Amino acid sequence: MKYGYFDDTKKEYVITTPDTPLPWINYLGGQDFYGLISNTLGGYSFYRDAKLQRLTRFRYNNVPSDMGGRYYYIKEENKDPWNPGYLPCRAELDKYVCRHGLGYTVIESEKNNIECLIKCFVPLDENCEIHSLTLTNNSMIQKNIKLYSMIEWCLWDAVDDSQNYQRNLNIGEVEVEDGVIYHKTEYRERRNHYAYYGVNHDISGFETDRDSFLGKFRGFDNPLSVEKGHMNNSIAHGWYPIGSHQIDCLLEPGESKNLIFLLGYGQNSPDNKWAGKNIINKEEAKRVLNKFKSQEFVLKELEKLKHYWNKLLSKFQVETSNDKVARMVNIWNQYQCMVTFNLSRSASYFESGTGRGMGFRDSCQDILGFVHLIPEKARERILDIASIQFEDGSTYHQYQPLTKLGNNNIGSGFNDDPLWLIACTVAYIKETGDSHILNETIPFDNKLGSEKSLFEHLRRSIHYTLSHLGPNGLPLIGRADWNDCLNLNTFSTEPGESFQTTANYESNIAESVFIAGMFIKYGQEYAELCSRFGDHNEGKEIIYQVKRMKEAVYNKGWDGKWFLRAYDAFGNKVGSNECHEGKIYIEPQGMCVMAGIGIENGHAEKALNSVHQLLVNDYGVELLHPSYTSYHKELGEITSYPPGYKENGSVFCHNNPWISIAETILGRGNKAFDIYRRICPSYTEEFSEIHKTEPYVYSQTIGGRESFSLGEAKNSWLTGTAAWSFVNISQAILGIYPDYDGLKIKPCLPDEIKSYKVRRYFRGSFYNIEVENLMFGKTKSKISKE
Ligand code: BGC
Ligand code: NOJ
Repeated sequence: MKYGYFDDTKKEYVITTPDTPLPWINYLGGQDFYGLISNTLGGYSFYRDAKLQRLTRFRYNNVPSDMGGRYYYIKEENKDPWNPGYLPCRAELDKYVCRHGLGYTVIESEKNNIECLIKCFVPLDENCEIHSLTLTNNSMIQKNIKLYSMIEWCLWDAVDDSQNYQRNLNIGEVEVEDGVIYHKTEYRERRNHYAYYGVNHDISGFETDRDSFLGKFRGFDNPLSVEKGHMNNSIAHGWYPIGSHQIDCLLEPGESKNLIFLLGYGQNSPDNKWAGKNIINKEEAKRVLNKFKSQEFVLKELEKLKHYWNKLLSKFQVETSNDKVARMVNIWNQYQCMVTFNLSRSASYFESGTGRGMGFRDSCQDILGFVHLIPEKARERILDIASIQFEDGSTYHQYQPLTKLGNNNIGSGFNDDPLWLIACTVAYIKETGDSHILNETIPFDNKLGSEKSLFEHLRRSIHYTLSHLGPNGLPLIGRADWNDCLNLNTFSTEPGESFQTTANYESNIAESVFIAGMFIKYGQEYAELCSRFGDHNEGKEIIYQVKRMKEAVYNKGWDGKWFLRAYDAFGNKVGSNECHEGKIYIEPQGMCVMAGIGIENGHAEKALNSVHQLLVNDYGVELLHPSYTSYHKELGEITSYPPGYKENGSVFCHNNPWISIAETILGRGNKAFDIYRRICPSYTEEFSEIHKTEPYVYSQTIGGRESFSLGEAKNSWLTGTAAWSFVNISQAILGIYPDYDGLKIKPCLPDEIKSYKVRRYFRGSFYNIEVENLMFGKTKSKISKE
């Protein structure tokens, strides 16, 4: 069952009911100002950092769900109010269509013969969100409409806002000037920024105090001021500041009226912050409000945004008769890559924006799918990430986007982390040819004076693995590797204790076959960097170490039919046929084959056949099998999840593309595509009622066979699946690989793709690539430069 459809021409997903299985969201903004926006106009906005600079309030865990957003109430005398996005009043609409596009969301709705068209977006290069709202009277009679706006301010720090009530119920402050509501909480002291909410029209009243607007014991679904049709012009002092305007519209039959609401963020220098005693200097807000006051200009800006996206996406476009592949490659997969690049794992409807900021391994991997879009941003990001590495080559696991400082609250000691830095640096250089990045100097742990070249950072990454080997010559796992939840040294017995940060007992025994695979893959890449741009001897040494590691994997990391996952702190096997549960894990099968291990001796083929036999279900490839049915302190968080969920045997989408890529290494195009298709949103759209999350983006997990919700996805949007899926389809399957000396064409196609054309931007030129599938693993390709 579907709840909408793809409009490929407009690059939109069109949702035809507000009643989707979960809120289906979109992202506004891609620079500094961001908004999360659902198909009922829920969500929140923030400036740069969802934790530290949140403008509007949203209640995760709320009942009813998806509460907090940009709400507009349309009210006629003697009629109930309604909202263009259905929430919060839940008045049945006569018409509802929500179009999520690239960086914008448009909702068209109608009730009582009043049509409302609302277009929301963050314009390029400005720190604000625009809601252009047009009311049309489709009736035969004159309509006297009162329109109310409503947003609720968050007191900036989203964590404090949701817990430190003894303070924050006293600090809320606002100003109202010319109908614009200014949120100036903490501006009197150390903040030099404020938020504002205005409209390009005279208002007939306002509220800034939530209780005054809502009335006692009422919710957003029936505010007293709206019911009475009268605003109190309240000024909030502490408690709960909001922004709400009333606008009176008299519409003749057929007449339309457009209003432009603008939610903005303004910043002043400390010595220029006041216009008078405790009065904000509002020049910046006025400039922006003035800029966006005409509908014509606003629509032009929206067109500019669409043009920006068209231009970006034109860097990789495929023409194929398979619509589902085309819409993912050309639109949605690239779009999601941009969003994950921008936000890492910080803010979505599943990531509260207060916990995980920019993940080290996450951001490194996000770059793999993003780098062709805006390589300059990837460059900057690589240097930011490298700056949270420690001198010994290990890293913080996460950093805060605003400060760019490593965050210890999230833990460290994940022994795969350092190697991901090689992955993204190599991808960047292959895309751009800019090997100068290797000579950029950056600090360790952001400490002044510790600066060393990026090349040196990479060297330390590699040598970190080499200096942390265990008894079998395999890399020590540390707190965990890619699988955050395989905690072999934690032994936690305290309820609620964080597996991510609990002080580690380092056994110096627990080893990871996955990191061994990573070392072989990225060690070879690093050695090639050395031979091309650096120290040849170092390159040779690493090739030797790669060979040794490969031997260790063959001798100690092979289980007979698949690659072992790890050795625990007692030297026992994890992910072996000998184990009672968790016999086979996906990660080493994908990573080892991607690294080229087992091609020469048939292990690779055996391992992938085992994956098909034991891990594949209708909805993708499960992370492990069988799932653990009880908690094992020697394995950690992975066994804390009920069977079939999250790391304990769900389809953890992120590493599905690894299997697909691995299949292409064996030349098995049909199998590779089969895996690609299973988790691909444009395919899972067909059964949206089971899948539940947005059918235009990947989610992190899908319930496995041992769960109670097979096929149900969770944690949409912010997942490394986006980047790896794009790498998979664009490089491994369609076969367009950026390489040091140019584009390499090496497709591995399923029978069902007979031919296609790709137009790809690469280092200043566009290339047209035409591929024909000659079947049985053979293809014919033509490439021409424009
Ligand atoms: C989740 C992981 C996540 C980790 C870090 C765990 O509970 O299962 O997917 O990476 O937390 O927050
Ligand atoms: C989500 C995390 O963001 C990612 O870094 C990790 O690899 C996976 N969970 C698996 O645990």
